[in-house]
Amino acid sequence: MKLSLKSRQTSSNDFNFPSEKIGGHCLKISKLILAALPSVVFGVFTIIFTIQQNSTANKNRQQDQRQSDELSIRSTFENYINDISKLLLDTKFNRSNPEHLLHIRVKTLTVLRNVDAHRKRDIVLFLYESRLLRSDVMPNERLSLKDADLNGLEFIGSSTVSIQLDYLYLPDVYLSNGIFEWCTLDYAVFDNASMSNTKLINSSIWNTSFRGIHAPDATMGDLIFYNNSFIGATLVRTSFIGGIVWLEKVDLTNVDLLGSHDSEGKLIHYDFTSQDQIIRFNTRFADGSFDGINSSELIFDGGAELGVSFISVYREMF
Ligand SMILES: *[C@@H]1O[C@H](CO)[C@@H](O)[C@H](O)[C@H]1NC(C)=O
Ligand SMILES: *[C@@H]1O[C@H](CO)[C@@H](O)[C@H](O)[C@H]1NC(C)=O
Ligand SMILES: *[C@@H]1O[C@H](CO)[C@@H](O)[C@H](O)[C@H]1NC(C)=O
Ligand SMILES: *[C@@H]1O[C@H](CO)[C@@H](O)[C@H](O)[C@H]1NC(C)=O
Ligand SMILES: *[C@@H]1O[C@H](CO)[C@@H](O)[C@H](O)[C@H]1NC(C)=O
Ligand SMILES: *[C@@H]1O[C@H](CO)[C@@H](O)[C@H](O)[C@H]1NC(C)=O
Repeated sequence: MKLSLKSRQTSSNDFNFPSEKIGGHCLKISKLILAALPSVVFGVFTIIFTIQQNSTANKNRQQDQRQSDELSIRSTFENYINDISKLLLDTKFNRSNPEHLLHIRVKTLTVLRNVDAHRKRDIVLFLYESRLLRSDVMPNERLSLKDADLNGLEFIGSSTVSIQLDYLYLPDVYLSNGIFEWCTLDYAVFDNASMSNTKLINSSIWNTSFRGIHAPDATMGDLIFYNNSFIGATLVRTSFIGGIVWLEKVDLTNVDLLGSHDSEGKLIHYDFTSQDQIIRFNTRFADGSFDGINSSELIFDGGAELGVSFISVYREMF
């Protein structure tokens, strides 16, 4: 008993001292913290303030950058329009002089690389209205925009005012992610253009040539669509939405329609009730099936001669 009591005493003695010591430590630490608090608070404020200031400065810098980009785009665009306008009004300007056209082409390709989609649209419209991008002028008076960067080009009219782009001549251009909505594109030419993910919606497209276009993931819908040529075109995964009255006298020779679908993603099954109106030689349909294979035309070479011979067959029929 004694022993255990003693031991308890000893232990209580043993533990008393350190606990006092801890209390002292705590006090010291609290004092220290209290003393340091203003500096800590000040430090934290300084850090937060600096971070905030930095982010404000960043934002300002970004805004300045945007403003200067916008200014530079605007001045590039305005210089271009002034230059070309002056050139077109010059009495020495000759539309059928290849050197004059080349000069415009070089300037145009350069400016197109440096402007946004809105300016691209304005430039195309400007050249089109200057009769340089039209399929109804003499071939030697047409401006070639081959390889021009027209990605993101948008022409969006409205149900009351459609944008008149008949005879628009844009072969061989890069026109991915483009939109033509409420436009008239009769007799337009887009041959060999790269038009992936481009939308053709609520427009009139009649006597238009899309030969050899590369247009995967395109969207087409609510079109007046008649007598167009797609010979050799790639139209894989195209969405046909809305009420598309298509395939009327449309030439689908050597066209690839694999995976083309409606707005719900269901593969399109073409209705050939008006079969004789459609030219569909070596056409690959949505489900991978072929129709009207002509073994003499299996080589993917555009097959333009087929289209021509069949159009003349129609002429004879009607
Ligand atoms: C315009 O250029 C073409 C080709 O260089 C030339 O044949 C024609 O005579 C020129 N026209 C005029 C009016 O100078
Ligand atoms: C389109 O490409 C084909 C094959 O490369 C070529 O034969 C044809 O002339 C081109 N068409 C146009 C309008 O550039
Ligand atoms: C398409 O061409 C045919 C024959 O040249 C013409 O009769 C028809 O009016 C044209 N369509 C449009 C919308 O201009
Ligand atoms: C179809 O288009 C071609 C080429 O533009 C034209 O020669 C032909 O007359 C048109 N046919 C119809 C019925 O519009
Ligand atoms: C075409 O326009 C009509 C009327 O504005 C609209 O209801 C329809 O959805 C449009 N079509 C497409 C494919 O966007
Ligand atoms: C296949 O195409 C050739 C022209 O390339 C044509 O002469 C021939 O009549 C066609 N054959 C059939 C069965 O349509």
